[in-house]
Amino acid sequence: MDKILILDFGSQYTQLIARRLRSARVYCEILPFNAPVEEILSRSPRGLILSGGPSSVYDKAAPRPDPAVFSLGLPVLGVCYGMQLLAHEYGGKVAKAAAREYGLSGLKILKGSRLFKGINGSVSVWMSHGDEVKKVPAGFHVTARAGGSDISAMENPELGLYALQFHPEVHHTEQGAKMLENFARGICNYKERWTPASFLSESIAGIKKAAGGHSVICGLSGGVDSSVAAVLAHKAIGKKLRCIFVDTGLLRHGDRERMLAVFRDKFGYGLKIADASALFLGRLKGVTSPERKRKIIGHTFIEVFDKEAKKIPDAAFLLQGTLYPDVIESVSVKGPSAVIKSHHNVGGLPAKMKMGLIEPLRYFFKDEVRELGRSLKMPEAVLMQHPFPGPGLAIRVLGEVTPERLKILRSADRVMREEIQAAGWYARIWQAFCVLLPVRSVGVMGDERSYEYTIALRCVSSVDGMTADWSKLPHGLLHKISSRIVSEVRGVNRVVYDITSKPPATIEWE
Ligand code: XMP
Repeated sequence: MDKILILDFGSQYTQLIARRLRSARVYCEILPFNAPVEEILSRSPRGLILSGGPSSVYDKAAPRPDPAVFSLGLPVLGVCYGMQLLAHEYGGKVAKAAAREYGLSGLKILKGSRLFKGINGSVSVWMSHGDEVKKVPAGFHVTARAGGSDISAMENPELGLYALQFHPEVHHTEQGAKMLENFARGICNYKERWTPASFLSESIAGIKKAAGGHSVICGLSGGVDSSVAAVLAHKAIGKKLRCIFVDTGLLRHGDRERMLAVFRDKFGYGLKIADASALFLGRLKGVTSPERKRKIIGHTFIEVFDKEAKKIPDAAFLLQGTLYPDVIESVSVKGPSAVIKSHHNVGGLPAKMKMGLIEPLRYFFKDEVRELGRSLKMPEAVLMQHPFPGPGLAIRVLGEVTPERLKILRSADRVMREEIQAAGWYARIWQAFCVLLPVRSVGVMGDERSYEYTIALRCVSSVDGMTADWSKLPHGLLHKISSRIVSEVRGVNRVVYDITSKPPATIEWE
C-alpha cells in the first residue's frame, strides 16, 4: 500500500498532519523522528514529512533524523521545525525571531510552487514558532512570505525538498489541507484513494493468523472501539472470540440491556456478563478522592476480568481496541504535557495477564474506526454514541458513591439523554451527561420545603476531547430537561447548567 511517512519531532500538531492526509484519502503513518533509515525504507514511503517541534535547531540536544534520510531521493516536506532543520542541514541560516510568532498571519504566495497549486494570492496561515529562517540555502528559493518580508516557505524542486514555516495541518490555515494533498499527490505522486475499508480483508486475515486457532478474549465495554474490534474479530475467528462484559454497577440506565440486545441478540456472539456491582460498590464505600476511585475501579476491573478469563482454558490472546493516537503517544517524543487525570481503560490488562495482544485498530483514528464500523454494517447507534469513561458514573457522583446517589444520577441522566435525542442534538455534540453534586439546597415543592441534591448538566462540543466548548443548547430544551428532572427524579430539587469550557475546566467533573 502506498504511503507517506511523517517523522515526529514532538509538535502537538503532528497527529493532525496524519489526520488531514488521511481525510484526503492519502494513507500515512507517524514514526519517531529518529527512526532508522532501514525502518523508513521497509515501509516503502512515497515521501516524508518532517513535523514541527518545540526545539531549536541550535540546541545541543536538538532532535535530528537519521542523516541518511536526506539522500534517499524521496520528496521531503518540512513543517515549522522541519523547515528549520532543512535550512540548517543545507547551509541556510536560522535564528531567533525578534518576537515569538503565534497565531494567524497573512501569507502572500509567490508564483510557481507545485505545493500551492490551485491556491492563489493570499491566505491566512497559523504560525507557532520562536526561530525562523533568515537565509535560504543555496539552490533553494522563497515561495511565500508572511508579514511582507518573512521567509514562510521555501523549496528546492530539483532535490524534491519543500518547506513551510506555518502549520498547514491546523484548521485555521486556509487551504492547508490542500497544500498537504498537493505534496502527496502532486509532488510524491501518490495515486490511490485510501479508505479504512481498504484494510478490512487484511485486518480480518491478520487476526485469524495471529490467533492461530486459539480462543481470543475481548473485554467488551460497548463503546465504539471495543465494539468494532469485536465485530472484526468475530468475522475472523467466529466462536473462538469470547466476549466478557463487566457490569461494574457504575453503568448508565439501559447500558447492560443495550449490550445484550446488540451483541447477543442481533449479532449472536457468545457474551459473558460478569456482574460485579456489589464488589465495586463495596470497595468504593467511603472513598471520596477522584484519583482513588479511579485506582480502585481500575484494579477491581482487572481482578474481575482476570477471574473470568481464567475460565476460558485455551484463551491465548486478548483483543483490544487500542487506537492510533495511543500507539503514537507511546512511540513518539514525549511533549511536556502533564498527566491531568489518570485515565483508566483496560490498558493495564496484558502485563498482568501474560497474554498475547491483538489490536486490529492500532493504525486507525476514531473517525476511521466509525467508517470501518459502517462498512461492517454496524448500527449507527453504536458507532455514533458519545464517549463514556471507564470509571463510569463513579466520577459523575462527586464525593462518595452510594447506591442511592447512583440511582438518582441514573434517572436524571436518562431524562437528559432522552430530551437531547428527541431535540435532534445528540449527533451535534461530543458528550451530554448529568453530574450529581453532593450538596443539598433548599427548595419548595407544593407547599413543602425541600432539602435535596443538585444535578449539573454538562454538554460540550469537541473534536477530540482535548479541548471543548460548552454547548449553546436552546433555552427551551434546557427548560424541558430541568423541569422533567425535578418532577420525575426523587431527591433532586435544583438543576444547573455548566458553562465552562476546557480548558480551564475538564469535561468530567472529577
Ligand atoms: P476530561 O474530563 O479529562 O475528559 O476533560 C476528556 C475525555 O476523557 C473522558 N474521560 C475518561 N475516560 N477513563 C476514561 O476511559 C477516565 O478516567 C476518564 N476521565 C475522563 C471524558 O469522558 C472525556 O470524553
